[in-house]
Amino acid sequence: MQPLTTTSLQIRDNQLWILDQQALPQQKNWCLTPDAATLINHIKALRVRGAPLIGLSASLLLALLAEKGMAQAELSQTLEQLRIARPTAVNLMNNLERMNQALASTQYVHRMVEEALRLVAEDRALCESIARTGSALITPGSQLLTHCNTGGLATAGVGTALGVILAGWQQGKVQNVWVDETRPLLQGGRLTAWELGELGVPCQLICDSMAATLMAQKQIDAVWVGADRIAANGDVANKIGTYSLAVLAHYHDVPFYVAAPHTTLDPACPNGAAIPIEQRAATEVTGVAGSFGAVQWAQPDTRVWNPAFDVTPAQLISGWVLDSGVITPDQVQAGIFQPSAE
Ligand code: MRU
Repeated sequence: MQPLTTTSLQIRDNQLWILDQQALPQQKNWCLTPDAATLINHIKALRVRGAPLIGLSASLLLALLAEKGMAQAELSQTLEQLRIARPTAVNLMNNLERMNQALASTQYVHRMVEEALRLVAEDRALCESIARTGSALITPGSQLLTHCNTGGLATAGVGTALGVILAGWQQGKVQNVWVDETRPLLQGGRLTAWELGELGVPCQLICDSMAATLMAQKQIDAVWVGADRIAANGDVANKIGTYSLAVLAHYHDVPFYVAAPHTTLDPACPNGAAIPIEQRAATEVTGVAGSFGAVQWAQPDTRVWNPAFDVTPAQLISGWVLDSGVITPDQVQAGIFQPSAE
């Protein structure tokens, strides 16, 4: 396959390499990912993370395995294993559905390589469209809040919500970005603050619990988040903590925007209650681990509840900023995300 580079994925010498997002920002480790077992391990450990990136990494690996001579039946089994690597982000299933169609062709090697590269190119273009569309909603002098990490690390392009913020800053409209640290795995503190710093965008890191006070002090003009799955009624699954921000934004009359590519839509999923939410290990909450080592502060037998995502009801969302344009609450209520409207 031709060489390819995104912020956090590379194809070099016909091998897939992933940038270990658990080691960032202290270490920039590129990990060779030769097979599905290794990739699934990286996905579960969040070394590869972010809804679009998970789908792209799985698609690229399948294409490389096809090129290396893996038989159709084994490719099909591998695809099914990858499909269930993480349950919430629908981009993985949507991308793999397209790879499955390519796999069914008689020219499957050529078709799979073509499809995986097309998915990467499309994701770049989708990010650009989202950034262009979303940045038009940013008013000059804005202070924006974002949660988790939705930038170049999580996509093949400029990102989704963070791409919007970056475009707004490039247009001179963003005064400051408040970055939620995003407990328990600190995607905001480790990744978003680092990405914005590298890009020169003015930002301040806050603990997740500080957003309410900032909103009460009128220091947040809008909240921008990404999505892992958007249900047919407009409910949005995203990183745990997103829902509480939406409630806060509603109370303080602050616009709350969700930015995502259409590959995050799941018309077959009627509402947020039907979105599978990943539960994760207790040790992520009883302490913290990273390239600096691991610290556990709670007693090892402490009982823990650790959902990786929550669901924000559609009524709390001011706009769904997709690559196709801004979808309004009225359009969502009228059924624009319903299967028949596809
Ligand atoms: O568990 P993660 O880090 O994969 O969660 C990521 C998020 O929740 C992002 O907001 C979402 O995937 C959008 S990324 C463009």
